[in-house]
Amino acid sequence: MRQIVITKKGGPQVLKVLEVADLLPSSGEVRISVKASGLNFADIMTRMGVYPDAPPYPCVMGYEVSGIIDKISSGIDPSWLGKEVLAITKYKGQAEQVIVPIDQVFEKPPTMSFEQAAAFPVNYLTAYLILSAMGSLQSHETVLIHNVGGGVGLAALEISNHIGAETFGTASQRKHEFLKKKGLKYAIDYRNQNWKDELMKLTNGRGVDLVLDPIGGKNLKQSYQSVSSTGRVGLFGLSVVTEPGLGGTFQKLKMLFQTPIFHPFQFLLSNKGVFGVNMARLWHEKKKVRIWADILLSGQKEGWINPHVDKVFKFDQVGEAHQYIESRQNIGKVILVP
Ligand SMILES: NC(=O)c1ccc[n+]([C@@H]2O[C@H](COP(=O)([O-])OP(=O)(O)OC[C@H]3O[C@@H](n4cnc5c(N)ncnc54)[C@H](OP(=O)(O)O)[C@@H]3O)[C@@H](O)[C@H]2O)c1
Repeated sequence: MRQIVITKKGGPQVLKVLEVADLLPSSGEVRISVKASGLNFADIMTRMGVYPDAPPYPCVMGYEVSGIIDKISSGIDPSWLGKEVLAITKYKGQAEQVIVPIDQVFEKPPTMSFEQAAAFPVNYLTAYLILSAMGSLQSHETVLIHNVGGGVGLAALEISNHIGAETFGTASQRKHEFLKKKGLKYAIDYRNQNWKDELMKLTNGRGVDLVLDPIGGKNLKQSYQSVSSTGRVGLFGLSVVTEPGLGGTFQKLKMLFQTPIFHPFQFLLSNKGVFGVNMARLWHEKKKVRIWADILLSGQKEGWINPHVDKVFKFDQVGEAHQYIESRQNIGKVILVP
């Protein structure tokens, strides 16, 4: 079977599709014959050598797949064999086969394509965790979704619309029309405008109740300044370290230097809060993750969740897929298929 391997830190040329022996599941695990794998920003950051939670090189990335269970281990209910599923994987999902503990596997709704199913786990669980589980977004509130045209951003827009909150989002100008059609109320071109000044104008100086910040660094400071009393900021990424510039270590140091440090008294005096979200560090909270996934999969059946697959690349085109995201072209999810 074939796997996409990041052989070392570098440009898209370090990505190789390599043949390895078939995998066998151990007790409590199943093998999925992969039909589609999600490509995430974390995979790009891993290849660039700036992702803090990356496994050592050479590595196979991939946090999510859809496919068919083609082998089960002892103790697994035989009815799983042959089922169409989606799964959260601890790396290694960008391969023709992946081994997954059964408690990370979910039945794929028949109304979802394999590509849509692979676009679901990371984006929607992350968005739900920030907006609902931790951010407690309410229908009478306002939310600013940074990079609303990305995978997590679009998922967050759908969930916010379902909650009934008023939505603001930052994205490259060319994505605005699409986002408006998806229900975004106010789109801000953060690459050519000062997004904070624009947001303050649009909200008559009040700011918003919740900000989703995947950028970090000095953007986090502005996000904090943009929330009103009782407002919250959810930090869930540090994409600022991938900006073209000084490269790896220097970029990380610059980001650390620009990141604000918060004292809890600040929160006490201003009725504000900041929290962090990292799906890759929630493997011990499987019960909660399943509850959230069930809510979201029901949402798909009810019609308020509709994963948007922007582009599908074959494994052999993985370099192009990385470049597509890196050059900010994607609207929603990029998928890899064997
Ligand atoms: N903590 C978690 O559990 C978790 C889970 C998933 C994702 N994340 C984080 O969330 C962020 C978005 O992830 P995603 O998978 O939704 O991303 P994505 O679909 O790959 O979207 C990336 C988009 O972000 C924007 N962007 C902002 N800064 C960028 C940069 N320096 N280089 C390239 N694009 C940049 C671009 O759109 P515009 O320029 O149009 O805005 C780009 O199209 C990333 O920081 C990722 O690490 C965190």
